[in-house]
Amino acid sequence: MDTASRAMAWCCLIAASLGALTAVQAHQTLSPIGHPSLLKDEPITPLPLHLPLDQRKVNLGHRLFLDPRLSHDNTRSCSSCHGLETGGTDRRARSIGIGGAKGDINAPTVFNSGFNFRQFWDGRAATLEEQIDGPVNNPREMGSSWPEVIRKLRADPGYARAFPDLYPEGIQDGNIKDAIATFERSLVTANSRFDKFLRGDQPALTERELAGYQRFKAYGCVACHQGVNVGGNMFQKFGVAADYFTDRGNITKADLGRMNVTGLERDRYRFKVPSLRNVTLTPPYFHDGSAATLPDAVNIMARYQLGRSLSPEDRDLIVAFLGTLTGEYKETPLR
Ligand code: HEC
Ligand code: HEC
Repeated sequence: MDTASRAMAWCCLIAASLGALTAVQAHQTLSPIGHPSLLKDEPITPLPLHLPLDQRKVNLGHRLFLDPRLSHDNTRSCSSCHGLETGGTDRRARSIGIGGAKGDINAPTVFNSGFNFRQFWDGRAATLEEQIDGPVNNPREMGSSWPEVIRKLRADPGYARAFPDLYPEGIQDGNIKDAIATFERSLVTANSRFDKFLRGDQPALTERELAGYQRFKAYGCVACHQGVNVGGNMFQKFGVAADYFTDRGNITKADLGRMNVTGLERDRYRFKVPSLRNVTLTPPYFHDGSAATLPDAVNIMARYQLGRSLSPEDRDLIVAFLGTLTGEYKETPLR
């Protein structure tokens, strides 16, 4: 089979098995590629340049995001594992929680997390607000509890002043979560070169990067990594075309993915498809942190999700395209 008909076969299979793609999207995935004259038909859309958010809540949420008092022993803040200077992650295969405890899964980025359809690899939190209960109470992350956090924050005169201005009820878990989630919604990395290209600025991409985008579509990566976040809008099995977990070995509970939430056999090894925005900045890759570099991750995806083995040239073109998804935060390109 040639590339296009292989991609078609997989797209049809994926669409049929999940119903996640509309006929229109499947058609776009397969259409002869590349010409940006019909940008509105592209399967990826630009991030918004501006979001209407209450800037005072954003600022308060930022303070809380940096505050280690959200952890039991005052050593770990949200930013310990989601540093904004390190792509919104900790760049470790497994995160380190209080007392040096090692987590069981790779930390995803907080950048653009507001655009994911659900939170966590297995989608167990529906919203950013709900997500925050996880790390605060997780004994291997922050190991605290809301009563403890609220007690500590109420003792701080700065917070005791700042909260009532924004929330009549003062310092409460719901308000803490609201402020942090509002801050997270502000972590939008707009203006990547790829978004500029989508908005009609053709020279924003080099020929190689454009060729990489064409490969990304032709191979069928875009069947799962699509939409505003180039991912983050569906669950998919890791190992569609070959058995990733048997090949890797040492299967853990975290590897079961969505099955841990639903208990359903068909959800075994299914994960939220991660966003590929800023992906060059967030190694290592996958929920198990098993791929140290982006070229490795791309090869593994081709093999286990699409049943393809990429030539080094095609792999490099795709990696070059992925590099154009790095955006800006506070008007500065992420590093
Ligand atoms: C000890 C490290 C650690 C700390 C501290 C931590 N996180 Fe995380 N975070 C993780 C890991 C690991 C995951 C993935 C867990 C999973 O999917 O089961 C995660 C997942 C997330 C996600 C979901 C992203 C997605 O794409 O699914 C968000 C949002 C997030 N964290 C925000 C926060 C906030 C806000 C705080 C502070 C209240 C925080 N984290 C504290 C390690 C940490
Ligand atoms: C059938 C759906 C599907 C297809 C097709 C697919 N992916 Fe993925 N991709 C996923 C899922 C699911 C994950 C998360 C796997 C895990 O860690 O458990 C993922 C993870 C990734 C990651 C790691 C991101 C991170 O932050 O850890 C990269 C990079 C990636 N994919 C690139 C690609 C490329 C390039 C292609 C085409 C060659 C592709 N994907 C095709 C579903 C897919």
